[in-house]
Amino acid sequence: MSGAVRIAPSVLSVDLARLAEQVRVVLDVDVMDGRYVPNLTFGANMVATLRALTDRPIDVHLMVVEPERYLEPMAEAGASGLTFHPDATVHVQRLLSAVRQRGLRAGLALNPGAPLALMEEVIADLDVVLIMSVNPGFGAQHYIPASTDKIRRARSALDRARSPAYLEVDGGIGPDTIAAAHAAGADTFVVGNALFSSPDPGAIVRELRQRCAVSV
Ligand code: DX5
Repeated sequence: MSGAVRIAPSVLSVDLARLAEQVRVVLDVDVMDGRYVPNLTFGANMVATLRALTDRPIDVHLMVVEPERYLEPMAEAGASGLTFHPDATVHVQRLLSAVRQRGLRAGLALNPGAPLALMEEVIADLDVVLIMSVNPGFGAQHYIPASTDKIRRARSALDRARSPAYLEVDGGIGPDTIAAAHAAGADTFVVGNALFSSPDPGAIVRELRQRCAVSV
């Protein structure tokens, strides 16, 4: 484990009227198609809009069926990374390697009910392992406590494989939940409501980092 702490604000919770002002850090863009999850959000045009506003990494989290159809449009729009759900496509390893060949970070997202075995089979093809600590589709949900043990087991699997992949957690992350996730081995944190419901997101980022610093 590197000890790094990456905070990725989730654009799902951003005030779109203040987009330019709020996009100064690594970004997580939640793309939902209304089929894989019961919600509809952004397409490649949102990524292109953000890319025009920042040169920071933009990680696209595809909560869509047939994610392979989105690789080219998202790459063209300026995405830095693409993470998809293994149960949304037929050929997981083929898509992971296609994402890398396109020059993007390749990630796999595991829902609370999805076994870690799904990522262990393709661990050499992964730059990001995303543990969903809520069922995907909406912001402002509560962190599922069983996620902490899943993060711990994912960390062991990555360390056994000597994998440099980011271990990311997404859903219900805030000052009360980040320390346990970090101590379990996560190094990248998608944060939506805890950041953008605050009048001072910068202060929340500092607090989240401080909670991680004392959690090790
Ligand atoms: C949910 C999304 C998350 C969500 C996080 O399906 O993947 O990124 O926006 O928001 P919070 O931090 O509010 O749970």
